[in-house]
Amino acid sequence: MATKQLVTKVWIDPGCIICDACETTAPSVFEVQHENDTCIIRPAALDAEFTKPLSKDIVEAAEECPVDVIKFDTIEVEVSDAEAAADAAKKPAAGAAGAAAGDAPAKLDPPKPKEVDPAIQALLEATTVRGGNVVLDRGLEDMPDSVKRMAKLSPTELPPDARQAKVLDKAKPDKKDADGPSRRDLLGAGALGAGWLAMATVGGVSTLAFARFMAPNVLEVEDPKVRCGPLSKYSAMATGEVNEDFKPVKPSGFWIIRQEDRIAALSIICTHLGCIPSWLPNDRKFKCPCHGSGFKENGVNFEGPAPRPLERFKIYLDGDEVIVDRSKKILAMGPNDTAKWNDPEAYIPV
Ligand code: FES
Repeated sequence: MATKQLVTKVWIDPGCIICDACETTAPSVFEVQHENDTCIIRPAALDAEFTKPLSKDIVEAAEECPVDVIKFDTIEVEVSDAEAAADAAKKPAAGAAGAAAGDAPAKLDPPKPKEVDPAIQALLEATTVRGGNVVLDRGLEDMPDSVKRMAKLSPTELPPDARQAKVLDKAKPDKKDADGPSRRDLLGAGALGAGWLAMATVGGVSTLAFARFMAPNVLEVEDPKVRCGPLSKYSAMATGEVNEDFKPVKPSGFWIIRQEDRIAALSIICTHLGCIPSWLPNDRKFKCPCHGSGFKENGVNFEGPAPRPLERFKIYLDGDEVIVDRSKKILAMGPNDTAKWNDPEAYIPV
């Protein structure tokens, strides 16, 4: 009896660069959401019985992924000789099922990780919404919009602290050489520009091209204050309701939430690794598609790896108009650190 491998679980590790390749190969499994700058596993594909018949496509998508973030688990099953022969007759994917009758079971070997300096990878992840090799491969001119957008942020707007910690954690020991400062020197500078400089240096991008890339960012700084309309619009909301009008506002969107006695502005950036959660009104929670973090309707983290609640922005009235000032954040460092949400800058009473 022949055997073959079937995919029982598929997921996406951090670092996706929204290249569309996986959705092209396995559209019923992967969904690229450009509006949210992310790629998710479709709900149906969370079921093993759904993924098994799609094993070949999933393996191909994983092999084609330029940043190797598609992962999967498999089981080995027995198949009839006829089925094994039919599989073998199909065009096999490298490493995928396709053994002829009597052959040793075909292995769905996960793609081999590419050789990437972890410090550089960490810098890319820290300085882009979706870091990855592709930035180096394609060049700065052709980088994803998410990367260009992140380059416009000031260091204080970079999400979230966990990323910086990750960078420092992954950075290699000091390595001075004749060409300039060590990576830790660059990291120690703590500025976004340092990350880009390191990326440009490693990527072989010319100083001129790098300067041209960076120059417009200075000129296109967006006003951190957003005028959100009259207070009556929000005081009319039901308690627990979420206004999503300003989720798409660049470079940092927000939700306005209605609580019993107030309204507040929540950042849309997940405090784990910076993906953008979705508001699920039926479940009364914000759910992050990347690694499953969940946040209650007041922004408190309660499931998944996110270490702290969604950040809040300063909110105030100008006459009768609600203004959200994204240059001032109110941070809770954990689910029990919410007393600062009573700071007068953190909410408008209604
Ligand atoms: Fe990992 Fe949101 S980015 S759970």
